Amino acid sequence: MPEPMSSVSFPPSFLWGAATSAYQIEGAVREGGRTPSIWDTFSHTPGRTAGGEHGDIAVDHYHRYREDVALMAELGLGAYRFSISWSRVQPTGRGPAVQVGLDFYRRLVDELLAHGIKPAVTLYHWDLPQELEDAGGWPERDTAYRFAEYAQIVGEALGDRVEQWITLNEPWCSAFLGYGSGVHAPGRTEPAGTLRAAHHLNLAHGLGASALRSVMPARNTVALSLNSATVRPVSQDPADLAAARKIDDLANGVFHGPILHGAYPETLFAATELVTDWSYVQDGDLAAINQPLDALGLNYYTPALVSAAETEVTGPRADGHGASEHTPWPGADDVAFHQTPGDRTAMGWTIDPTGLHELIMRYTREAPGLPLYITENGAAYDDKPDPDGRVHDPERIAYLHGHLAEVRRAIADGADVRGYYLWSLMDNFEWAYGYEKRFGAVYVDYSTLTRTPKSSAYWYGKAARTGALPESDEVF
Ligand code: FCB
Repeated sequence: MPEPMSSVSFPPSFLWGAATSAYQIEGAVREGGRTPSIWDTFSHTPGRTAGGEHGDIAVDHYHRYREDVALMAELGLGAYRFSISWSRVQPTGRGPAVQVGLDFYRRLVDELLAHGIKPAVTLYHWDLPQELEDAGGWPERDTAYRFAEYAQIVGEALGDRVEQWITLNEPWCSAFLGYGSGVHAPGRTEPAGTLRAAHHLNLAHGLGASALRSVMPARNTVALSLNSATVRPVSQDPADLAAARKIDDLANGVFHGPILHGAYPETLFAATELVTDWSYVQDGDLAAINQPLDALGLNYYTPALVSAAETEVTGPRADGHGASEHTPWPGADDVAFHQTPGDRTAMGWTIDPTGLHELIMRYTREAPGLPLYITENGAAYDDKPDPDGRVHDPERIAYLHGHLAEVRRAIADGADVRGYYLWSLMDNFEWAYGYEKRFGAVYVDYSTLTRTPKSSAYWYGKAARTGALPESDEVF
């Protein structure tokens, strides 16, 4: 059970950060030689995003980064996780780097460092240069080599000033939502292509990690961020347990198997044998993927509840990954997803902080000795300014409190969690949902692009400054 709202303190070295990603905040999509990424193309394709919304301007962070860094500093944040737009630094996804693009990130990092905020760079948060998609995208092996080259370029440019590196953000979404259900860019719906994409993303991670290490100072750390699911069966019935096993393989094992252990789970091969023969896994790939990691990033929002398709379960079915007539789960037609009971956020995602504790403890067992970071956690609510212009979001404070308390409980239980990045610093382009879903601790008025910290930003800022969760009766 989540702890009651009370003061909970963290180790002094615990890192308190916030996270964003390039396409969701930067805008300036045609500046400095940047070319379209798959998300530019997808969001400009009619019917793909809510209201046809796109990231052309987003929250204009490209021009307002100084203001945004100042805001983080005022709040007292210790770290900032952001991603690099591949199309900004290597517009066609191959060839020489564009210095104007790299200069933007150099300036951003210098601004962060000048304010005492630790930068954490994610190289790939879903925005593949369109030219690489035109050449086949992630189902194509060459994309992994292109990523390694790009990683080297960015590592060379920023490795002297950024210590924390993340190769990929949530490769599950890139592969399974981008090439399976098609609710994310590039919007393809190919069951076999989904698993090919997953393998090539794994390869990209491994080759990218090696490329980074070949050009960066040894003190820098290399990690990746997984949206590893906490998968729960509706019952202990063998059919429901088998359903949970299958989804666990397709959500988690497909990535952590090769990355942490150097092998895909045998049960994954069995579950997907009608979809693919995995012949694209070449000799040497598993060794290339199984690079030592310095840390693992976990992104957590809500648990998954599954059963065998024939199990009768009352209540709505939902897997929380958006509506599509195509499943993101190849080979799992015999599995049903159910709405976990409990209160939900504006995304319809059930609030269950215990799932975060479960996830942390799972990876504490899965990868003993590997430092963990929560690289994303947060909630969308229908935030609106009061007449006095302030934005009160007590639900988000409760969400953050509940989840951070579970992180603290995991640390007490022996987990090595080094930091937490709130998703997100500010409201932004929430992919296929457009601007309607507000995840920010900072409110953005989309007509003026004015930033207003919500009460959760002040709450979180106090937690960051004091290293303890504020008392529940404190007003922000
Ligand atoms: C994660 C993404 C992030 C944001 C949050 C809500 O899956 O990494 O960009 O969309 O979900």
